[in-house]
Amino acid sequence: MRILVLGTGAREHAIITALLREGSHEVICAGGNGGIAADVETVQIDQLNANLVAELAADRAVDLVVIGPEAPLVAGVADAVRDAGIAVFGPSKLAARIEGSKSFAKQIMTDAQVPTGAVTQVADYDQLVAAVDGQGGPWVIKADGLAAGKGVLVTEDRDAAIEHAEKYLGEGPVLVEEFLAGPEVSLFFLSDGETVVPLTPAQDYKRLADGDAGPNTGGMGAYSPCGWIVERFGSETAFTDEVRRTVAEPTIRRLAEIGAPFVGLLYAGLIVTDAGIRVIEFNARFGDPETQVILPRLTSSLADALMASATGALAELPP
Ligand code: AMP
Ligand code: GLY
Repeated sequence: MRILVLGTGAREHAIITALLREGSHEVICAGGNGGIAADVETVQIDQLNANLVAELAADRAVDLVVIGPEAPLVAGVADAVRDAGIAVFGPSKLAARIEGSKSFAKQIMTDAQVPTGAVTQVADYDQLVAAVDGQGGPWVIKADGLAAGKGVLVTEDRDAAIEHAEKYLGEGPVLVEEFLAGPEVSLFFLSDGETVVPLTPAQDYKRLADGDAGPNTGGMGAYSPCGWIVERFGSETAFTDEVRRTVAEPTIRRLAEIGAPFVGLLYAGLIVTDAGIRVIEFNARFGDPETQVILPRLTSSLADALMASATGALAELPP
């Protein structure tokens, strides 16, 4: 297959490494980095310019485009590639709102009865203070839109919670969410809009500094397998089956119902509480850094799985 991968991170390098391992693909990377450039051809292009990406894919006669980061998805790059008649692994602009808007994601979860933390959406300062004081700490404050990992604050400090929320109030609703206690785990699902197939769970090292200290981050590193999942659920498969049934399938079904079928990678960010599994976020793309530990564990073809997702053929894919 001839495959164009879009993105500049370690995530995209992990995807490209997994594709090259199959030995039969030609890979081009739009963006890239020093490590990627040592492995494949890289092309510099404005990744948010949907028409340019679609033109590049057409010029190079690629069979498949894989979009790594969320920003081009939210900007509608997958739509332009799909409109050009080229298979693309990555959701439409409409479906990518599952990551691009936390209030949209909450609405989908409510409609689909997916287990998640209780939430109050606030639109002004008075509503904010009422919501914060209406529940005890710790507080979980979330900006609605993409904020490059800086939109969420988990804090025991009431004033810090209010101050953080105020920064985002002008931009749209702010979510005051129930604090969920328990280990956090990422589980990725391939989706063709109808069928979902789980990959294997991974856990990020979330804190900035050594010894699990410092502020929360998007992940300083990751590991898989996660021994505690096997201990708690009996096997990785028992866990992935439960999340598929209670989270991924109802979410994908609901997105299809509202005319936003999700084709690509549905990333479920989960906390395993004493009361059960809860969703804390969805992303519309592979996780970074988790992809670096998940894809090396894949024993079947990544290219075939991505192509099957892009072309509505996941149900026929062998295990
Ligand atoms: P998010 O962008 O929604 O994944 O939030 C960023 C980080 O904040 C997550 O990775 C969690 O570590 C933490 N977090 C988010 N929501 C909650 C919650 N409801 N309870 C506890 N921690 C949370
Ligand atoms: N590792 C967190 C993320 O990719 O969003």
